[in-house]
Amino acid sequence: MRMIDTIEGLRAARAELKGRTGLVPTMGALHAGHLSLVGQARADCDAVMVSIFINPAQFGPGEDLSRYPRDLPGDLAALEKAGVDVVFTPTPDLMYPPGFQTWIEVAEVSRGLEGERRPGHFRGVATVVAKLFNLFQPHAAYFGQKDAQQVAVIKRMVRDLDFPLELVICPTVREADGLAMSSRNAYLNPEQRRAAGVLYRALSAAGDAHAAGLRDPDALRAIMLDMLRAEPLAEPEYVSVADARSLRELDAPGDAPMLLSMAARVGATRLIDNRLLPPDLNNRADLTAVLGG
Ligand code: PAF
Repeated sequence: MRMIDTIEGLRAARAELKGRTGLVPTMGALHAGHLSLVGQARADCDAVMVSIFINPAQFGPGEDLSRYPRDLPGDLAALEKAGVDVVFTPTPDLMYPPGFQTWIEVAEVSRGLEGERRPGHFRGVATVVAKLFNLFQPHAAYFGQKDAQQVAVIKRMVRDLDFPLELVICPTVREADGLAMSSRNAYLNPEQRRAAGVLYRALSAAGDAHAAGLRDPDALRAIMLDMLRAEPLAEPEYVSVADARSLRELDAPGDAPMLLSMAARVGATRLIDNRLLPPDLNNRADLTAVLGG
């Protein structure tokens, strides 16, 4: 595995890779969710490339940039074991040199849900991902379902800016109680960790109601909200039932795939989660085809 921290070094390493290449962009503190993306890239591609970069541009003022979990030695050991070929670990100055002033704004898809609560977040994500696509020139790039709106934003950007690559969206990997794997789960104390399972329980309750025939978006939202409110350590920020392709909030029952999503604080930790309905859409092929249109 080659570890690289310069742009020239990355371009040289990339030029030596033969065949189909896959990129897994990450912010490090890797967990089983990241490793499932790496595993999928390994299965699909001749060479696997990973970036580890905590992107300051996607954190708002007062967010957790300074304390975001970091574990470079652990990450490198896990990536080596997973058979990764190239790891790129740039500094913020390398990605955003003095005078940097070019930003990518994916206007409409970035607006609601996370974009509404985290102004500027998707501008930072889109810009760094576009830079990574330009630097790595991958044939395929791998992202997780957990950040569903991020997937939709990147999909739109790839289409609008004609990036010649395939996006692959892999299902959320969960802990035994259903909590979606996230680097931020490391912030939770044992009591909060127990309470954090409520996000999955809320999604499951809405899924069960849907399976029993409930289609009214307001009623599905109410089920999720009630479940979140029943957990004293959780403070819901939003629940959403949206069209999975446009991410527009639904106000009437319909047949189109739905994205159920939510954000809640458990203690100081902000957690997000989602699932597609009907439930059989939560697999790689359907997530890749449906999320974000
Ligand atoms: O999902 C993430 O970890 C980040 O948003 C990404 C895609 C690596 C961009 O910084």
